[in-house]
Amino acid sequence: MRNGTSWLPLALLVTCVADASDVGSDAYLSGMPKVELHLHLEGSIDADTVVEITNRNELGYFTTVEEIEESLANRPPGLMGFLEHHMKLQNVMQNRQDFYDATFSLARNLHDNNIVYADLFFDPQAHTSRGISFEELFEGIDAARRDAEEAFGVTINLIMCINRERSVESAFEMLDQAYPFRDRIIGLGMDSGPEYGNPPVKFAEVYARAREEGYFLTGHHDVDVRDSLKHIRQSLEIIGMDRIDHGLNASDDPELMAELVRRDMCLTGSPVKRTTDPALQDVDRIVTLDNAGVCVSLNTDDPEEFETGYLTNMLVMFQDASGYSDADMTRLMWNAFRSIWLPEPEKKRFMTQLRDYAIAHDVDWDNVVRR
Ligand code: ADE
Ligand code: ZN
Repeated sequence: MRNGTSWLPLALLVTCVADASDVGSDAYLSGMPKVELHLHLEGSIDADTVVEITNRNELGYFTTVEEIEESLANRPPGLMGFLEHHMKLQNVMQNRQDFYDATFSLARNLHDNNIVYADLFFDPQAHTSRGISFEELFEGIDAARRDAEEAFGVTINLIMCINRERSVESAFEMLDQAYPFRDRIIGLGMDSGPEYGNPPVKFAEVYARAREEGYFLTGHHDVDVRDSLKHIRQSLEIIGMDRIDHGLNASDDPELMAELVRRDMCLTGSPVKRTTDPALQDVDRIVTLDNAGVCVSLNTDDPEEFETGYLTNMLVMFQDASGYSDADMTRLMWNAFRSIWLPEPEKKRFMTQLRDYAIAHDVDWDNVVRR
């Protein structure tokens, strides 16, 4: 698996991740307790589950795994090309059972990767705009993550995302629909695109109300989008976000990096790779941020839509590309653990798992927590 960077069918990829446990440092990464903070339900439905759902609902497309792979391989480049396939995938879900199945099968994959805690993004507007009620989709997702906690011991919290290309009114409508369920949704995020022309400040009032209603706040700042640095500053200074999703262009701006360090603001990095990419994206940016002391974590974003796949595999690829030691890799994972939005005692319980694991494997802890 060390050099296994060519594209693999999804089922095979999972098998290889399991195989990774018996060789060298891959065994350390594989066994490491993990946290994933940037993961979209709509980009994480495994191909078998997609096929099961589409056939059950007689949708007439994505009826085979091969058809999904072909659509993945042929998507146009860039964020909007990515979103084209992503939207097709998200549209397969029609009812509560579909949302349940997608979430439950994802939780199984998280468990297989030793993920102990995950924040899961979901895009209500992408579904309510197709006539599915908020309650229908939410109850399916929520029931599955509760059952998964019991079945696999993985804790999943939910972040609903504003689709940034839609109107402010539509975002407020989503907040209204979510209100009865707000104690089961941890945060408000923002995703989709295009990002340029739909900056964070567009939704300043929506975020302000979400804050009053008790949500944590985050939002996407995709890499190399025009005005990315300006958007990150808006999110820090105007919106008051609690985390920044992506945001890796901050590595271009020493002053912004210093500001992120001063605020102890964490970025959810996502160094993914598509089949057509020559290498894992953004490794240098993440190393620059890490060297500057910025809290940056590694996340898979949409594991069913990238060759990087699930977290263990992605960490192995990142370690190969960066030359990072196990202690360095643990530091990036520690950043995810310390930016979990849970009360301190609960968060500490998760953090202790990683610390104990690292120390039991003779990892230099001073290097992990260097700041
Ligand atoms: N939806 C899923 N992944 C996304 C990303 N990286 N950017 C914007 N929207 C997304
Ligand atoms: Zn994302």
